[in-house]
Amino acid sequence: MIKESSNDKTKSNYVFVDIEKKEIEKILKRYPKTRAESAVLPLLHLIQKKVGGWLPVPELERAADILKMPYMRVFEIASFYTMFNLKPIGKNLLQLCQTTPCWLRGSDDIKKCIKEKLKINNGETTKDGLFTFLEVECLGACVNAPILQVNDDYYEDLDYNSTKIILNKLENNNSLKSGSFLGRKSSEPKKNSVKN
Ligand code: FES
Repeated sequence: MIKESSNDKTKSNYVFVDIEKKEIEKILKRYPKTRAESAVLPLLHLIQKKVGGWLPVPELERAADILKMPYMRVFEIASFYTMFNLKPIGKNLLQLCQTTPCWLRGSDDIKKCIKEKLKINNGETTKDGLFTFLEVECLGACVNAPILQVNDDYYEDLDYNSTKIILNKLENNNSLKSGSFLGRKSSEPKKNSVKN
């Protein structure tokens, strides 16, 4: 997770993102009226998406108001989960799995490629605002390790060179196919796969 920015705008000069009432109601309807706070995770996801990948303090306060929860409880949740960012991120959020299966399958090579090519470390954003790099724990796709998540998509079976290809394509705004870089379907054995 990207930690809280000391430059967060205050509520007084902050312009709230547009969220239609019906979008909020759709989420709230999934939960009993007496348990509105149960909607905190999907509501924060919605707000984060609308803001562009992060949660400014006034938006956390708005979520607390909507759910009638203390602000601190909303903040605790937003700061606990790595899926939420408390300061602005780049256009492409690169989340590299560092847990054992991905590490054994070469996640260090992906990290090396990111560091060499983009000149950023964990938690940093490139000067042009194109990339933010985060080291995270298991992304739940260990069968095709190592995994790099870019925004909402997973890139699997990567190594140094395939990571470089992905970064080049993102840099140049070229289309990119997510999934296994070896062409594996789901978790089928490697010998059955056809390289892209
Ligand atoms: S260990 Fe990397 S996805 Fe599970």
